[in-house]
Amino acid sequence: MLEISGLHQYYGSSHILRDVSFTAPQGACTVLLGRNGVGKTTLLRSIMGVTPIRGGAIRLDGVDISQLTPNQRAARGVAYVPQGREIFSRLTVEENLLMGMAVKPAGKARSVPSEIYEMFPVLKEMLRRRGGDLSGGQQQQLAIARALVSDPKLIILDEPTEGIQPSIIKLIGEVIKSLSRRGDLAILLVEQFYDFGRDLADHYLVMSRGSIVRQGLGADMDKDGIRDFVAL
Ligand SMILES: Nc1ncnc2c1ncn2[C@@H]1O[C@H](COP(=O)(O)OP(=O)(O)O)[C@@H](O)[C@H]1O
Ligand SMILES: [Mg+2]
Repeated sequence: MLEISGLHQYYGSSHILRDVSFTAPQGACTVLLGRNGVGKTTLLRSIMGVTPIRGGAIRLDGVDISQLTPNQRAARGVAYVPQGREIFSRLTVEENLLMGMAVKPAGKARSVPSEIYEMFPVLKEMLRRRGGDLSGGQQQQLAIARALVSDPKLIILDEPTEGIQPSIIKLIGEVIKSLSRRGDLAILLVEQFYDFGRDLADHYLVMSRGSIVRQGLGADMDKDGIRDFVAL
């Protein structure tokens, strides 16, 4: 379980995240919605440790990880699928996946688990292709697979549907649903695509100007009028 409490984050002197607190439990998908520029990516970068926080705590299964490096957080089970995917374009698909596995403690399996290819069959066909030669949808599948091979306790995904065609969006939605049913993984999904977020959300959070302004059960999102918060 991820627990964020009293988190503050700045870029230089601009105060971006203001007293953010929420939890993302295991075996559930927590969806964070909000318009452009409200601080969603900054929050995920703070959880991963790419930008050190100025105040508050980030706990994973009760342990504060907020002072650890990104590598240490990854080794403890935090996996990040960044906005824009950021796969290694000059490495092959297989090499990208092996990079994802490199965060695991030494001595664990050194080959990509077959369930990854069951989830994303196209990656098996493309193993020797360079990441940069894949389509956007294939790169997104690779970015999610690369996060999953580290066998995480928490996966954070930043707008995985951005710029992706509908058939792949559907596939990604099914994968997230099945991961959430597995029960051992906490999922934090940042989305601007309301329908996609609502269909996956066990819990929702709405961010506005760096604060969480609404939260509730995924099943109540329509009733709570959340669509209006993210309509562009
Ligand atoms: N590296 C940065 N340096 C300074 N300001 C930034 C940086 N990255 C983002 N910002 C600003 O922080 C705010 C939140 O950005 P971001 O977290 O990317 O929002 P979102 O992901 O919700 O669109 C925006 O006002 C953005 O301009
Ligand atoms: Mg963003």
